Amino acid sequence: MSQNLVIGVVGVGYVGLVSAACFAELGYTVVCRDIVPEKVADLEAGRIPIYEPGLADLVKRNAQRLSFTTDIRDVTERASIIFVCVNTPPMYSGDADLSRVEQVIDELPSDTGEVVLAMKSTVPVGTGERMQALLDARGLGHVRYVSNPEFLKEGDAIADFMSPDRIVIGGSDEVAIERMAQLHAPLESTIVRTDVATAEMIKAASNAFLATKISIINEIANVS
Ligand SMILES: NC(=O)c1ccc[n+]([C@@H]2O[C@H](COP(=O)([O-])OP(=O)(O)OC[C@H]3O[C@@H](n4cnc5c(N)ncnc54)[C@H](O)[C@@H]3O)[C@@H](O)[C@H]2O)c1
Repeated sequence: MSQNLVIGVVGVGYVGLVSAACFAELGYTVVCRDIVPEKVADLEAGRIPIYEPGLADLVKRNAQRLSFTTDIRDVTERASIIFVCVNTPPMYSGDADLSRVEQVIDELPSDTGEVVLAMKSTVPVGTGERMQALLDARGLGHVRYVSNPEFLKEGDAIADFMSPDRIVIGGSDEVAIERMAQLHAPLESTIVRTDVATAEMIKAASNAFLATKISIINEIANVS
């Protein structure tokens, strides 16, 4: 895929900033949007609001390919693939709070084109169907929704992004899946092409497996 491609990242927290910096390192131009003006101002001034080994250097090295904004239009008017990386914190019930993800759909301008909208935020199974319904209700049915769960871990995030065990792309739109596969081709990793719900389930199963591993080793530690 052409390195002239412009990528959008919505939500420049941990996942968003690491992804943006790594895509810029691959040669893509990345427009990042966050709703916190102070964070955007810091990033524009080269100040990195989180600590992740190697991230500050990566952002600095790729500064000319990275830009930061609070205006969603800067993203939708330039990017052809937009990653949603907003937070989905657990609510009191334990369910994920999807209000920020839904807000992103609400905020898409009504003249948004045929972009690929890639969900990197961790969302429960069935969210994609709900997002598609929200897009349809807004007259944005032409937006190509895909699920692209993120598996990076803090502390090793750049290496995890650059050398992933697998890249999961879930969607029903072949054009969108192909664009996503081409985008990630420089990473030379296994690409799992599937439907949206299966991609969401892969992330849920992966998180459950990691939690199980932590639980069992804690039990072993207690017994020891
Ligand atoms: N941190 C991790 O290690 C990790 C790993 C895998 C997956 N995830 C998942 O990725 C998602 C993001 O996690 P994170 O740790 O990067 O969260 P974070 O809290 O660090 O960052 C989220 C960012 O989104 C911004 N935001 C909220 N609403 C917005 C909107 N409408 N438009 C633009 N920006 C908006 C916030 O201001 C914040 O900067 C979550 O769903 C999380 O579960 C996180």
